[in-house]
Amino acid sequence: EAASKNGYSHFMMKEIYDQPTAIRETLCRRLDEKRHIQLDDIKLQKEDLDELNKIYIVACGTAYHAGLVGKYAIEKLARIPVEVDIASEFRYSDPFVDDKTLLIVVSQSGETADTLAALKEAKRKGARVLAITNVVGSSVAREADDLFYTWAGPEIAVASTKAYTAQLVAFYMLALHFANTKGTITDQEYVAYVDAIEGLGNKVEEILSQKETIEAVAKILVEATSAFYLGRGLDYTTAMEAALKLKEISYLHTEAFAAGELKHGTIALIEEGTPVLAIVTQERLAEKMISNMKEVKARGAYVIAIAKEGTPHIGHVADKIIEVPAVCDILMPILSVIPTQLLAYYTSTLKGLDVDKPRNLAKSVTVE
Ligand code: G6P
Repeated sequence: EAASKNGYSHFMMKEIYDQPTAIRETLCRRLDEKRHIQLDDIKLQKEDLDELNKIYIVACGTAYHAGLVGKYAIEKLARIPVEVDIASEFRYSDPFVDDKTLLIVVSQSGETADTLAALKEAKRKGARVLAITNVVGSSVAREADDLFYTWAGPEIAVASTKAYTAQLVAFYMLALHFANTKGTITDQEYVAYVDAIEGLGNKVEEILSQKETIEAVAKILVEATSAFYLGRGLDYTTAMEAALKLKEISYLHTEAFAAGELKHGTIALIEEGTPVLAIVTQERLAEKMISNMKEVKARGAYVIAIAKEGTPHIGHVADKIIEVPAVCDILMPILSVIPTQLLAYYTSTLKGLDVDKPRNLAKSVTVE
């Protein structure tokens, strides 16, 4: 077991550090000499895409959060309407699915019972199924019509890290592939996105080199009884994933909120010293986020910003700042999630908990 941890003290840390490679593998091995994305296991043609009236993305846990980013990427780049649902909700909701629906299931293991049941239900209703999975030959892979394998390598720690970032890369690539096939983006835009995705591995490495700063923030979280992640737009999806990660391995009660909803209830929970982690990477929304940070700070919150480098005025309102390198806003979720993984890891280890095998959780939930 020690050998496969590659010198790291826990699988989770090893897997966090595997991410630059996982991101590069998932993308680069699928670029041809013209730097076009080649997806051999995806048979959907232009006619099939033109016929679709909607895409449903269905998954559980961390994979569901990847789906929320996927919706954003597909809608923005390929202009196809997307709905996202939790597999256990989808399967019992009599969803509007027919032969004009593409169901995308996302599952690291490819064995999650609810995801598999949702897939079968959608197929029964006539949908075409595309699976994003990390395990070759898994149940989900065998049932799907089209396949996208994330090449993240085996993920052992219960808390998903590299599978998540590889799922995000998969969604960006699918969105670009669909957009290029449908002609909804220009060649220049396509090339610029491919280049930007290729550069993400190095930017993740830059973030990992700040681990001492992040560990110092975790020392604050260790003392807390609850914490809140705030975000808007894509930062809200990262907030949800970040909150899940923190609660599942550190047992710290953590909730994610859409920052604009604060006033509708959540702000009542803020007390003197409550840690509020604000994710601020979306330029269009940064100003709104800063005013939300001011609101919680005025009620005593200890505000920690996870912000895109160069975000104006952030220093005036945050008590601590973790900076992430800049890339175009749509790709920021791959970078902004990295400090949140490290924060969860350090909060758990500082509390002396079993990071890789948190209580009551399983890596793959194969029963309902
Ligand atoms: C379990 C794991 C999570 C994972 C979820 C979905 O709850 O603890 O980390 O996100 O299952 O797993 P899947 O293999 O379908 O991605």
